[in-house]
Amino acid sequence: MGVVQDKVALVTGGTSGIGLAAARRLADEGAYVFITGRSRARLDEAVAQIGSGAEGVVSDVSDFADIDTVVEAIRSHGRGLDVVFTNAGGGEFAALPDITVEHFTSTFTTNVGGTLFTVQKVLPLLNRGASIVLAGSTAASNGTPSFSVYAATKAAIRSFGRTWAAELAGSGIRVNTVVPGPIETPGLVGLAPGNEQELLDEMAADVPLGRVGRPEEIAAAVLFLASDQSSFMTGAELAVDGGQIQL
Ligand SMILES: NC(=O)c1ccc[n+]([C@@H]2O[C@H](COP(=O)([O-])OP(=O)(O)OC[C@H]3O[C@@H](n4cnc5c(N)ncnc54)[C@H](OP(=O)(O)O)[C@@H]3O)[C@@H](O)[C@H]2O)c1
Repeated sequence: MGVVQDKVALVTGGTSGIGLAAARRLADEGAYVFITGRSRARLDEAVAQIGSGAEGVVSDVSDFADIDTVVEAIRSHGRGLDVVFTNAGGGEFAALPDITVEHFTSTFTTNVGGTLFTVQKVLPLLNRGASIVLAGSTAASNGTPSFSVYAATKAAIRSFGRTWAAELAGSGIRVNTVVPGPIETPGLVGLAPGNEQELLDEMAADVPLGRVGRPEEIAAAVLFLASDQSSFMTGAELAVDGGQIQL
């Protein structure tokens, strides 16, 4: 028996990096996992890697009406929803003078709007005891130069986590935020095309444990927050950051 045996889970952005690792771990531990992304081909590849117990649904979180597609797929499955990991998102570097309306709008629409409307739209499907895990970031607490818009989206997520935990506590639904430090994913190395290793070395130097993290290390924390192992936790931020914002 896995720790999320027979639960139904949704991982937004499950084709790559942290989302793919979390989906794989949830499936390994017995859950039926819906993953989303914007490309059918990437979803099919991810589902093949996860193995049986996963289903890919093309759904773009930045197009709020499109979130209905995955909601409908979960409804048709007919077993409600026990775990939600709102992972889809990302950011780009832009120094203050270079921030454009497009950069601001697309980052906030995906990271903040995508999280908000995913959680809102799946609420009617949630089974009692459901667990919602939001994707935060140490960037919400640090001052990382040229990352202000992304960091502000993650500060919004931090706030959502607390407010929604309070709002949903009476329904037996828990809401927690996993807070990754720098994790080696396509999303992270994609921030510095051509200078990937330099970026990773720079980020590792800022982590007390002296390295960047692996997606599987975030997946382990997501599994814990998703499962009944964390049954007395809600409104919490769980830092998985090699000590970056703790020390
Ligand atoms: N890596 C880090 O160091 C780090 C640190 C702190 C927090 N985080 C957070 O962790 C989450 C995952 O990051 P990652 O590093 O694993 O990134 P990644 O490797 O770029 O993966 C991002 C995932 O999100 C999906 N996605 C992006 N935009 C989407 C949209 N509009 N609709 C649906 N899916 C979308 C992508 O799928 P498709 O491209 O196939 O659509 C992909 O599956 C993000 O919220 C990120 O902010 C990452």
